[in-house]
Amino acid sequence: MTSPQPKKTSPQSTLSMRHAAEKAASGRTPRTRTKQSKDALKRTRGFLRRFTTPLLPDDYTVLINPLWSSRELRGRIEAVSYPTDETVTLRIRPGWGVPVDFHAGQYIGIGVLIGGRYTWRSYSLTDAPETHDGIFTITVRAIDEGRMSRHLVNLAEPGMHIRLAAPAGDFHLTEPVPEKILFISAGTGITPIVAMLRSLMSREDMNDVTVIHSVRHRSDLLYAEVLEQVAAYPETKVILRVTGEDTDEAYGPRISPDDLETLVPDVRERVVYACGPQPLLDGLETWAEEREIELRTERFTLDRASDATGGAITFAQKSTTVEADGATTILEAAESAGIMLPFGCRMGICQTCVQQLSAGFVHDLRTNETHEPGSRIRTCVCVAAGDVTVDC
Ligand SMILES: Cc1cc2nc3c(=O)[nH]c(=O)nc-3n(C[C@H](O)[C@H](O)[C@H](O)COP(=O)(O)OP(=O)(O)OC[C@H]3O[C@@H](n4cnc5c(N)ncnc54)[C@H](O)[C@@H]3O)c2cc1C
Ligand code: FES
Repeated sequence: MTSPQPKKTSPQSTLSMRHAAEKAASGRTPRTRTKQSKDALKRTRGFLRRFTTPLLPDDYTVLINPLWSSRELRGRIEAVSYPTDETVTLRIRPGWGVPVDFHAGQYIGIGVLIGGRYTWRSYSLTDAPETHDGIFTITVRAIDEGRMSRHLVNLAEPGMHIRLAAPAGDFHLTEPVPEKILFISAGTGITPIVAMLRSLMSREDMNDVTVIHSVRHRSDLLYAEVLEQVAAYPETKVILRVTGEDTDEAYGPRISPDDLETLVPDVRERVVYACGPQPLLDGLETWAEEREIELRTERFTLDRASDATGGAITFAQKSTTVEADGATTILEAAESAGIMLPFGCRMGICQTCVQQLSAGFVHDLRTNETHEPGSRIRTCVCVAAGDVTVDC
């Protein structure tokens, strides 16, 4: 791939210089100032609370600016663009109290009011933390019958207010950065990898990196400009697979673990980061385990096909019972009844959603395990296998 030469100026050093200049001007570090202004805001809120009871200061402040909420993390969509027909890129300004620090590869949670209730999903941040300007960027692909993704691709517009969950996730670059990396992605699985590639470029650490990315059609390709920038480095290699079109010699079939040792002869010396569809990741996990290769994966979607029958799910402490089929998770069933349970990734990664199963059996869609009464279960990936009671 041809591309412009990578930038030689380090954005990191630009930021450091800016912070140093601010510090010199004020005699305080920016972090101290942030803490002081947060403390002052806290004191003001405490003071206001005495006057606004029985309502909370939030009830008034959000009328002035919907981003000034201390009850929940909020954000406002600042800009919307459409890199392909089926995708939307959103720039989101975080509101008061939203943590903005993140590692390259992490995701944020987005809560959007759809059909009268908040729907939550996770989306990878695509900017490099080193050059991040305080605005979150995500790219969402509309999937068939996808509640949130269709809504965002069809209806998101600047000025729209949403809820946010702080950046999180273990799928990110480690410190120190591995000497040799192989990134493997397919489709929208490129989003966390783009953040990592941008991070490596911005800290001038783009050494021995190979990227294998696969898309069905050329028109589906996201972040082509980033791949081109990466390909311009002397020690990097970018392999693009376009699987759904008549291929010429340059392109090839779907990525398979069996091809990796041919495509990347030194793959056993590399740390592999992979994000893509479940069959690809399942195959890579077996392949890497057999060869003792360090593999880190991120899964975007849940395979809902299973033998689980569904059943009546009772949320004991709420005295509520909901009927759910074998493809609806316990977490989704609770939300459909207006019960908000804690959650983070909604994909079985972070454990935030764990609850005690007090009666019945559930099936874990990620691991295919069946859990019995007394187990601690991840409600975001477990479905009922008969009638169950959850202790929440
Ligand atoms: C860490 C992480 C990062 C992610 N980053 C990105 C990203 O950068 N970009 C991106 O586009 N996506 C990303 N995702 C995926 C994203 O979170 C959503 O899962 C995706 O947008 C689909 O959400 P949806 O509401 O549109 O689909 P959903 O409504 O959740 O549906 C998903 C699929 O499941 C089926 N389904 C849902 N409920 C049922 C049911 N009860 N019975 C049968 N079938 C059902 C639907 O038909 C659909 O095919 C990420 C996910 C994770 C976990
Ligand atoms: S919400 Fe992260 S594991 Fe369930």
